[in-house]
Amino acid sequence: MPTPLHATSDDQLKFAYWVPNVSGGLVTSDIEQRTSWDYDYNVRLARAAEANGFDYALSQVRYTASYGAEQQHESTSFSLGLLLATERLKVIAAVHPGLWHPAVLAKWLITADHLSHGRAAVNVVSGWFKDEFTGLGEPWLEHDERYRRSAEFIRVLRGLFTEQEFTLLGDFYRIHDFTLKPGPYRTEGHEYPEIFQGGNSTAGRRNGGEVADWYFSNGKDFAGFDEQYVEVNGYAAAAGRQGAVRFGLNGFVIARDTEAEARDTLEEIVAKANPDAVEGFRQAVQQAGASTKDGKGMWADSTLRDLVQYNDGFRTGLIGTPEQVATRIVEFKKHGVDLFLLGFLHFIEEVEYFGANVLPIVRELEAEAVRRGELAPV
Ligand SMILES: Cc1cc2nc3c(=O)[nH]c(=O)nc-3n(C[C@H](O)[C@H](O)[C@H](O)COP(=O)(O)O)c2cc1C
Repeated sequence: MPTPLHATSDDQLKFAYWVPNVSGGLVTSDIEQRTSWDYDYNVRLARAAEANGFDYALSQVRYTASYGAEQQHESTSFSLGLLLATERLKVIAAVHPGLWHPAVLAKWLITADHLSHGRAAVNVVSGWFKDEFTGLGEPWLEHDERYRRSAEFIRVLRGLFTEQEFTLLGDFYRIHDFTLKPGPYRTEGHEYPEIFQGGNSTAGRRNGGEVADWYFSNGKDFAGFDEQYVEVNGYAAAAGRQGAVRFGLNGFVIARDTEAEARDTLEEIVAKANPDAVEGFRQAVQQAGASTKDGKGMWADSTLRDLVQYNDGFRTGLIGTPEQVATRIVEFKKHGVDLFLLGFLHFIEEVEYFGANVLPIVRELEAEAVRRGELAPV
């Protein structure tokens, strides 16, 4: 019997893809990208992804153009559209605290969870795009304050998902004896919409460990992932949440029949990068971890070449033949990655290529590593 592509247990690697709900694709480059941001394309993509072993899709939240994303579909409504067009894919909607009230969002998530029979999830992102907030007349908090607000935001979400007459009297939110009815859609292995957290600064790591279900890392090599893994797990343990946080890693996949073809594609993406847009983005993201006292965080040490994929996806090194890409993916699993968040140049065709050529090797290598005792549970 062939090995199933989908994760069949919690110990198996899970795969997510970036929903192209904003225009311009996942690289700031004039290379041809056979990817569209429209809904019909996205429905076809979501169905192709769930047929090709993907468990999750992650939407992006953007309210105004920035370095390439000229057109943007709103993340929560777009996510719901994809949930209703699919059968098993979980869709993670990205949201900014500061632009949503957490109880309103909790209510939205619970309804989406019911409409999709338990497949709604959320990615809480603290934001880097100051002009977006100020343009909307909302205060732009200093970096670590944004994260303090995000921590409270997540506590409110989880409290309302899991408790009756929930109360939280915080610095940013005040909830008094509040009960949401209905509660989340309950099904095996799903108690409430999973809460992801995007942010790699010290404050982001703390939130990942102390309050999130999932910690998302920007693209990294092994050492770059390891140091986050240790620190986030340290925060989790100190908060009495040992082993409660799972880890997702971003990577841009260029899998081709030959390594030379894959490398040439990378070089073409970089050669055709739009330098002004990449530089504009580099300057804007100085509002992220680089603005903090210790200067740690996403994009804090990215080169201009890295930033052509705006979540540092080249750094993960998922570039080569199916065998090379699969081997590296399973090596990352040995370092503690539970989920890969993947971007592609030509989404539908490459998701299909990944499912047909890379994933079967991943599942074989994974099973082999378990047999050899190399993938003992952390
Ligand atoms: C997986 C992932 C997805 C993200 N998606 C978005 C997004 O859709 N919109 C957005 O404004 N920021 C997004 N961010 C960026 C965060 O808002 C934040 O600026 C970034 O993580 C920098 O955080 P740091 O300062 O803690 O390193 C995302 C981050 C990650 C890791």
